[in-house]
Amino acid sequence: MSRTVIRGGLVITAAEEVRADVLIEGEQVVALATTGSTVADGWTAETVIDATGHYVIPGGVDAHTHMEMPFGGTTAADTFETGTRAAAWGGTTTIVDFAIQSVGSSLRAGLDAWHAKAEGNCAVDYGFHMILSDVTESSLKEMDALVGEGVTSFKMFMAYPGVFYSDDGRILRAMQRGAANGGLIMMHAENGIAIDVLVEQALAAGRTDPRYHGEVRRELLEAEATHRAIKLAQVAGAPLYVVHVSAASAVAELATARRQGLPVFGETCPQYLFLSTDNLAEPGFEGAKYVCSTPLRPREHQAELWKGLRTGDLQVVSTDHCPFCFSGQKELGLGDFSRIPNGLPGVENRMDLLHQAVLDGHITRRRWIDIACATPARMFGLHPRKGTIAPGADADIVVYDPAATQTLSAATHHMNVDYSAYEGKQITGRARTVLSRGTVVVDAGTWLGRAGHGRYQPRATCQYLG
Ligand code: URP
Ligand code: ZN
Ligand code: ZN
Repeated sequence: MSRTVIRGGLVITAAEEVRADVLIEGEQVVALATTGSTVADGWTAETVIDATGHYVIPGGVDAHTHMEMPFGGTTAADTFETGTRAAAWGGTTTIVDFAIQSVGSSLRAGLDAWHAKAEGNCAVDYGFHMILSDVTESSLKEMDALVGEGVTSFKMFMAYPGVFYSDDGRILRAMQRGAANGGLIMMHAENGIAIDVLVEQALAAGRTDPRYHGEVRRELLEAEATHRAIKLAQVAGAPLYVVHVSAASAVAELATARRQGLPVFGETCPQYLFLSTDNLAEPGFEGAKYVCSTPLRPREHQAELWKGLRTGDLQVVSTDHCPFCFSGQKELGLGDFSRIPNGLPGVENRMDLLHQAVLDGHITRRRWIDIACATPARMFGLHPRKGTIAPGADADIVVYDPAATQTLSAATHHMNVDYSAYEGKQITGRARTVLSRGTVVVDAGTWLGRAGHGRYQPRATCQYLG
């Protein structure tokens, strides 16, 4: 079995920071030993990676992506091939994407379709959540089977009536089933029925620009839906994971529930931490680049999101990577903001933006690894293979240069989308060498990976509940 040793770096996990060498055999980490110790110096390996002056961190786990997702009358622009390659460039070595159940169809058909899109095409490892859009007796039964085969989380929508929307009764039934079979319900918490009334009224009044997307998707309607989802989960005796939290008042709902001891969890995304309604209001049709749901909020909300990440009321930062090109895709909503496909690119930028947040004093280095690697791995049943550097873990490792500088730009990123949501943003820090299960896939600006290296990861049930 081939051996690799990574020497001289600062190994950072969610739990500790140590100067250690890391020994890899084949696809797995087999040992760590203090740099310069007799044990570490005694290791021989075919490949020696010098990490002096660098961090050695677990590969990122992005638990919320939508590669080639059909949505809003078009399809997300990254395929599993381009999207996982871009992820690797940015230091993310596992994604969990969303397979979709179409209304009137089975979970199995949706899952099979997503396996067919991903298999043989991914550059890094991947798993699936299932979007539950049609709760029936048979789809509830299918949930049990999917949990048994490693699809252990189910996204439901209180938004998008007529597309993915489920009413409270269906949500309660799915939560009850999840409570029994271990499946974790992930909630898109916005009151879509009320939002659609406001959309209709805005358009009738001639308010058609992208910024109105943010105005009609009112903060109160995110907070209300978050509260309702928490209460439904409490009635069902089920844990709850709220996706893409953007409003301060929704964080407050989660915090209140957690103080009551309820097993509710929240994810936010880089776009809510770094962008705001100022971007949605950019002149011309530029704001369309920032249309996603939940929407970007006024800048003041960012401090509450950072606070939630520090206190632990929010546990995970995922990207909700759902890229649509400005040209030809976002433009579908010219003259009608409600037709702009919802979603932002970001899978390549998350690790770097969060490292910048470390430098800016929002979070510590270990919290960076916790919210971007360790907790998403535990939340979605990938621990101990993913999210940490320890004997027995997959050798998904990033040698990260904390002093490298870069400017985020569509001209240099690897995502298959014609704009960057962070165009021109200066970042300190960059992945230098990226290993996926022991194979170097990125090194010093060179792509060494291949489509098909990435392997499907069946997942255990949530490991974050204790
Ligand atoms: O705008 C978004 N978030 N697009 C992707 C679909 C979803 O709701 O996560
Ligand atoms: Zn959503
Ligand atoms: Zn999403």
